[in-house]
Amino acid sequence: MFTSSPLTGSKAEQYAALAAQARALLHGERDAIANAANLSALVYHALPDLNWVGFYLFDGTELVVGPFQGLPACVRIPLDKGVCGAAARTRQTQRIDDVHAFPGHIACDSASRSELVVPLYIGERLIGVFDIDSPVPARFDVEDQTGIESLAAAYLESMQ
Ligand code: SME
Repeated sequence: MFTSSPLTGSKAEQYAALAAQARALLHGERDAIANAANLSALVYHALPDLNWVGFYLFDGTELVVGPFQGLPACVRIPLDKGVCGAAARTRQTQRIDDVHAFPGHIACDSASRSELVVPLYIGERLIGVFDIDSPVPARFDVEDQTGIESLAAAYLESMQ
């Protein structure tokens, strides 16, 4: 059974502890769906003020919703649409303080106010994106971005 410990210390320390929990959780399993499901659940329950945590996986044409925690979401996102498409297309993490100010933002859960989307690449191969939404405006700062990118890296490492 997996037991998660409460996060304490500075934000950087908390993300370091969460990344260690993620690596322990994913250790020994390479299945992309299983690991996406467990990482979504871990993050959703570990971090405050989130309303959606999950994966969109690239099917060769567009992003298709994968394992997540939160309300039901839009199924397919073309690469030229939304915050998720922008992350996949530009290969840059999208940290959006106000989703309503982002041109082309796709509102899946109307509660979402800010969003962080990390692109998932193995070399040149697009795997998908890791998407986190918050009902709080500007929920994610640079430390959150670095921390969540390290969780995305743990996911990619687990598949290799
Ligand atoms: N807001 C995203 C769509 C996915 S939901 O947030 C779960 C976007 O604009 O790409």
